[in-house]
Amino acid sequence: MKKNSIIIIDFGSQYSQLIARRVREMGVYAEVLPFHEEIKNILSREPKGIILSGGPASVYAEGAPTLDKNLFDNNIPVLGLCYGMQLLTHLFGGEVARADKQEFGKAELLIDDAKNALYENIPNKTRVWMSHGDHVTRVAEGFEVIAHTDSCIAAVVNKDKNLYAFQYHPEVTHSEHGADMLKNFVFNVAKCEKNWSMGNYIENTVKEIRERVGNKKVILGLSGGVDSSVAAALINKAIGKQLTCIFVDTGLLRKDEAKQVMEIYAKNFDMNIKCIDAEERFLSKLAGVSEPEAKRKIIGKEFVEVFNEEAMKLQDADFLAQGTIYPDVIESISVKGPSATIKSHHNVGGLPEDLKFELLEPLRELFKDEVRQVGRELGIPDYMVDRHPFPGPGLGIRILGEVSKEKADILREADAIFIEELRKADLYNKVSQAFVVLLPVKSVGVMGDERTYEYTAVLRSANTIDFMTATWSHLPFEFLEKVSNRILNEVKGINRLAYDISSKPPATIEWE
Ligand code: XMP
Repeated sequence: MKKNSIIIIDFGSQYSQLIARRVREMGVYAEVLPFHEEIKNILSREPKGIILSGGPASVYAEGAPTLDKNLFDNNIPVLGLCYGMQLLTHLFGGEVARADKQEFGKAELLIDDAKNALYENIPNKTRVWMSHGDHVTRVAEGFEVIAHTDSCIAAVVNKDKNLYAFQYHPEVTHSEHGADMLKNFVFNVAKCEKNWSMGNYIENTVKEIRERVGNKKVILGLSGGVDSSVAAALINKAIGKQLTCIFVDTGLLRKDEAKQVMEIYAKNFDMNIKCIDAEERFLSKLAGVSEPEAKRKIIGKEFVEVFNEEAMKLQDADFLAQGTIYPDVIESISVKGPSATIKSHHNVGGLPEDLKFELLEPLRELFKDEVRQVGRELGIPDYMVDRHPFPGPGLGIRILGEVSKEKADILREADAIFIEELRKADLYNKVSQAFVVLLPVKSVGVMGDERTYEYTAVLRSANTIDFMTATWSHLPFEFLEKVSNRILNEVKGINRLAYDISSKPPATIEWE
């Protein structure tokens, strides 16, 4: 399956992962490697084709990312995109010049060689997305121009060496036939076969896990979030009760979360799960602490301690499983260079060294939407698979200021109503993350004939693609009114509700 793959070499483009996704959507496995990866590691994967990503550098800049030219002697088709095109031109002796101005936006592509395999079934004139400073002014020897725009050479080919390059970005949707051009590269030029599917993935991974684990034991920290749940279900399918999941109820989880997790996974999946009730432990450590970073540190440290204590009890576990997914892996091998620090997962980072677990990370090749697909195929219910993200410190950072059981219970009720109403109104999947925040502020209200003096809560709902930036969700007033009525009437302890209309930046999604 993997031998029929495309390798994307990353020169620091924001689109490198997107290229990989586009290729996978075609049913072909794709993997992103940093530009400094050794050639032997690239070749050992036996890729059918290589795509060089764009990147912010100029080929002439000091320390600009480059490649060993020997890579191109292996008769593997290569497609350079943007910086990838400039680099190919530079390495083969052509000329790259700094443009008078940056070209950014849509441009009209005029195809000169309509017969080229890359342009099969593409109209002779089409819109493409440009985003570059430098551009090719003289093609390298052996290359010919196959498309242009009115301001630059837009595509070249070296037929003898099987090298292709586009100045534009076919991977973004603004390039009208971009996906088709990538498809032409993957199928017409690199001659890949469609064999990447989640069904295949599950089958192969289950086999691999069985072979690797043998009759040894595995532990996994189940958080109830999508990644760890899918990892657990997959490993459970492979080795059943050889897997023990540890679920820590910190007392800072959403309403009925521990119950739901136990019902779905322990009962329906017949998984071996130890549910640790650590509410008192967490709350007593948090008593009197209101500074957000201090709370995060306490919760993180306590979590690791509880997990370790349980892990120690399972003396014969050899493997530690984690729900690491592909974007986590790529982030940690960024183009900064081999010395870039590897991101440490909070479980691993805190495990004592003498535990000596081998890591088992069966999702490390998958994007988030692929993880969800695997989850669905394994039979995890949609409402678990499509859940909004939930931060590790849980309600500890949604109860502003000092945390207490009373406040956590109030917040849980309000949050459950908000989420229930979002689901009922078919809005839950239209927003990226929604929750309620409890403020350490009391205000005066009236209920019946009685004066009240209770907490203020805030509804937060954000829409985002990457969680780096976000806008507040434009939820309908009628909907907000309904939620407000229910929370103020049903939740004892809250008598005032606000809606957060802050975008990120300058705000963040969570309040602490
Ligand atoms: P912010 O608040 O920084 O959040 O805009 C961005 C996304 O990250 C989540 N988040 C966390 N997730 N541990 C996590 O696992 C954390 O400490 C943490 N803090 C924030 C947040 O819920 C949002 O999805």
